[in-house]
Amino acid sequence: MKTVLPLFAFLAALAVPAVAADDLSQALPPKDMTWSFNGVFGTYDRGALQRGFQVYKEICSACHSLNLVAFHDLAAPGGPGFTEAQAKAIAASYKIPAPPNDRGDIFDEKGNRLTRPGTLADHFPPPFPNEQAARANNGGALPPDLSLIVKARAGGPNYVYSILTGFGQTPPHGFVVQDGKYYNPYFAGRNISMPPPLSDGAVTFSDGTPSTISNEAASVVTFLSWASEPQLEARHRIGFEVLAFLIFLSGLLFLSYRRVWHGGHEDTGTLHDYPATPTEKH
Ligand code: HEC
Repeated sequence: MKTVLPLFAFLAALAVPAVAADDLSQALPPKDMTWSFNGVFGTYDRGALQRGFQVYKEICSACHSLNLVAFHDLAAPGGPGFTEAQAKAIAASYKIPAPPNDRGDIFDEKGNRLTRPGTLADHFPPPFPNEQAARANNGGALPPDLSLIVKARAGGPNYVYSILTGFGQTPPHGFVVQDGKYYNPYFAGRNISMPPPLSDGAVTFSDGTPSTISNEAASVVTFLSWASEPQLEARHRIGFEVLAFLIFLSGLLFLSYRRVWHGGHEDTGTLHDYPATPTEKH
């Protein structure tokens, strides 16, 4: 008992800070979700990718850039599966800053930036011309580029999903929601500068999927996961092919081992099909 007591006190002392830190400002662990693209054979759900693109385009792109994704990616294998014509039309619906015109101007008479329609080769244009403008429009906070956000955050898709669906909860008693911020228990510090971006019915999905917050969030998370790892399906397929080949090769090697060395141990160490002592031909 004498030795157990100090040990017990030591463990109790260890537990105290954990309890204290578990209070109001520490983020909750992300929700545990199942994604079609998880696991060795995982693939992206095409419908979710296209719906997620719609959510990004209609909602998130007002504040977040997607710098690493080009319009031609939308029609690339393993992606959202738009046809090239659809991707072209999507690109053309965006305005890209134009190069200087014949007079060397990049602004028109009213001071607006000259633009041209996007092409397949263009990347998604950012919503703000620079970081200062982005911060000025978001209460000083910078909306991060979303191209790699799923890879960049611990918890990946579960984390982004939890952030998007984590608004609207009543803060625990005594928690201070800072001015211009919103309570979100999945965000570090639980005070986030992003206003709740999703709401029921915020978009109208053309495939008839009900636009609940969770469907909108799951779709845009699938889309952003693809943006973070567009080669995932190819990687999974190649992995499977390599494994299948290795299994086949192992079988082949085993059979040739049996054929070549068959009986090698039983008799005098001679090979199966060959005479024990070479005989000379006459
Ligand atoms: C009105 C502007 C606005 C809109 C619309 C918006 N966001 Fe944000 N978002 C922000 C700002 C500002 C931050 C930075 C928050 C902070 O640092 O407190 C942010 C942060 C984030 C983060 C990062 C959290 C982290 O760990 O750093 C994610 C993920 C995110 N937004 C996803 C989205 C998605 C997906 C959408 C579309 C459904 C969206 N946002 C729509 C302004 C916006």
